[in-house]
Amino acid sequence: MPAGEGAAGIRFCGGRVLLRALHKSPVSLDLGQAHAREGVISETGSLTKVSAMAQSPTAKWMTQGEAGLGALSAVSAFVFVFVAAKAADGAFAFHAVLFAAFSLWACFAIFNRYFSRPPELPPQEIDGRPNYNMGPIKFAAVIAMFWGIAGFLVGLIIASQLAWPALNFDLPWISFGRLRPLHTSAVIFAFGGNVLLASSFYVVQKTCRVRLAGDLAPWFVVLGYNFFILIAGTGYLLGVTQSKEYAEPEWYADLWLTIVWVVYLLVFLATIIKRKEPHIFVANWFYLAFIVTIAVLHLGNNPGLPVSFLGSKSYIAWGGVQDAMFQWWYGHNAVGFFLTAGFLAIMYYFVPKRCDRPIYSYRLSIIHFWALIFLYIWAGPHHLHYTALPDWAQTLGMTFSIMLWMPSWGGMINGLMTLSGAWDKLRTDPVLRMLVVSVAFYGMSTFEGPMMSIKVVNSLSHYTDWTIGHVHSGALGWVGFVSFGALYCLVPWLWNKKQLYSLKLVNWHFWIATLGIVLYISAMWVSGIMQGLMWRAYTALGFLEYSFIETVEAMHPFYVNRAAGGALFVIRSLIMAYNLWMTVRVGEEEVTTSPVALQPAE
Ligand code: HEM
Ligand code: HEM
Repeated sequence: MPAGEGAAGIRFCGGRVLLRALHKSPVSLDLGQAHAREGVISETGSLTKVSAMAQSPTAKWMTQGEAGLGALSAVSAFVFVFVAAKAADGAFAFHAVLFAAFSLWACFAIFNRYFSRPPELPPQEIDGRPNYNMGPIKFAAVIAMFWGIAGFLVGLIIASQLAWPALNFDLPWISFGRLRPLHTSAVIFAFGGNVLLASSFYVVQKTCRVRLAGDLAPWFVVLGYNFFILIAGTGYLLGVTQSKEYAEPEWYADLWLTIVWVVYLLVFLATIIKRKEPHIFVANWFYLAFIVTIAVLHLGNNPGLPVSFLGSKSYIAWGGVQDAMFQWWYGHNAVGFFLTAGFLAIMYYFVPKRCDRPIYSYRLSIIHFWALIFLYIWAGPHHLHYTALPDWAQTLGMTFSIMLWMPSWGGMINGLMTLSGAWDKLRTDPVLRMLVVSVAFYGMSTFEGPMMSIKVVNSLSHYTDWTIGHVHSGALGWVGFVSFGALYCLVPWLWNKKQLYSLKLVNWHFWIATLGIVLYISAMWVSGIMQGLMWRAYTALGFLEYSFIETVEAMHPFYVNRAAGGALFVIRSLIMAYNLWMTVRVGEEEVTTSPVALQPAE
């Protein structure tokens, strides 16, 4: 195409859009263009190539993705302004405005990227080495930290509200009922989800030795996912919910998530398909199981009929006990595939990488994978013991839950034994210590879970704080620590830094968080078992020994204890954010060395 000196114009040509523009200078960090620069900087150690390319006045093609997505966002901005004007309720109008604003911003960002990028898209390889796409990963890592702090803070607020109910201030927006789903979604989907997005995009590229598939698609996934979080979170505060635990967002948010998730699956799969490594590393199997299963669960649990297509309220297609069964098939597998499979993928990549040892037994990891995938999917009914669910289904759920103990511990042993010959590193590397302790917590909660699924044990634990203790030993100890370990590894790698700003601060983080977790879960174990025992205590005459309010009063000291543990957890997350921020700002640059070939599978 001849260059049009200084001129700008538009032409449609064989399905592609040609925008003629004088390219002047590269613009800092925005959708995709940054990676070309990153690649060149890290791979050749020089910026000159890009600058020269960027400054030569030349015409360029708009890709089909840019043109299609740009046009789609422009149309959707118009549509959502119209929807906002016609909305049946205030919350829906507010969300329509958010959709319109997001679409408008996306349209602007796409055109801005087009005008500021070099004519050629980032190459797949530079000097024979993969030109990894790190931009979306950096974004997901940073926003994970942000959502993490927000989610832990809301956790602390609701913990304090349970100890001192006056903190509800009689305001509906900040009442316990609305903040609780805000907390669970912020920590699981916003914090955990972004850690999974960041780590999966990183691991799949590195272990397949190719650049992430798609040009705008990876950005669409991370931005679209975070927009979903925004819609869900603001919805809870405004009282929009379909009242299904861990699946609270209403129909329109669900539809949006479906689109984003399908693109996520396609990006991940396409990257695996074009891999340069013959072998698919085990972490990718776990990530893939997480992505595919969450898609199936989301579709299975959420079909609903909106009251109006211009309003937020909908009714779920399932009813009665079928609804309960779908809900807990979803709920338990959200634990199994979101809070477990995805984070096990992190374990299988980051633990060996950090301690510089191969996985203890690659064969065991494959058995672990298939056994876990097969067993988890049947265990949901343990959430519905002693309900209207048929007895055989409850027993089935219990049986599969008990069997789950074995693969779970197989995985834990595999993770821990990976340190064989490198245990001494635990003394000097607090990040590795965090990763290893997370695996130990995984082992603990996957022992406790099967035990709680036994019907007679569940008759004591169900509805009590014991469940909350179990949740948080998994959530804070396993999911929290393994995520922090992964972020501590990722940030220096992504920003090309030699090491973290301060290992001493990581050490502080580790001990403060551990103390926080111990305070939290031990308080919940004691209060939970006490609560269960008080509820079932009878006098000699056969009356209940305690009124309900007496059991509530007895919980108070434990709730104060839990809030103190939560406060420690919030403090440590601020320490972590500071450490990561300083690593990016003042950390010493890493000099790139030639890559080492991956170890072949055993
Ligand atoms: C500062 C740290 C945290 C504090 C203070 C905290 C506090 C709380 C509180 C008070 C509840 C409500 C309990 C109830 O209804 O009786 C709760 C529920 C929950 N939290 Fe947290 N939390 C924290 C961190 C986390 C993390 C990191 C995760 C997950 C990764 C998590 C996942 C959950 C879940 C799944 C529930 C619902 C439990 C259930 O319904 O059985 N929390 N949290
Ligand atoms: C072998 C593995 C596991 C089994 C068999 C298991 C079993 C159970 C059981 C029996 C309950 C109580 C259900 C009730 O009485 O309502 C429960 C609740 C829960 N577990 Fe686990 N668990 C396992 C691992 C984990 C892990 C690793 C995590 C977190 C990372 C976790 C998160 C949760 C959550 C969030 C709930 C509360 C659900 C709710 O009622 O809102 N579980 N689990």
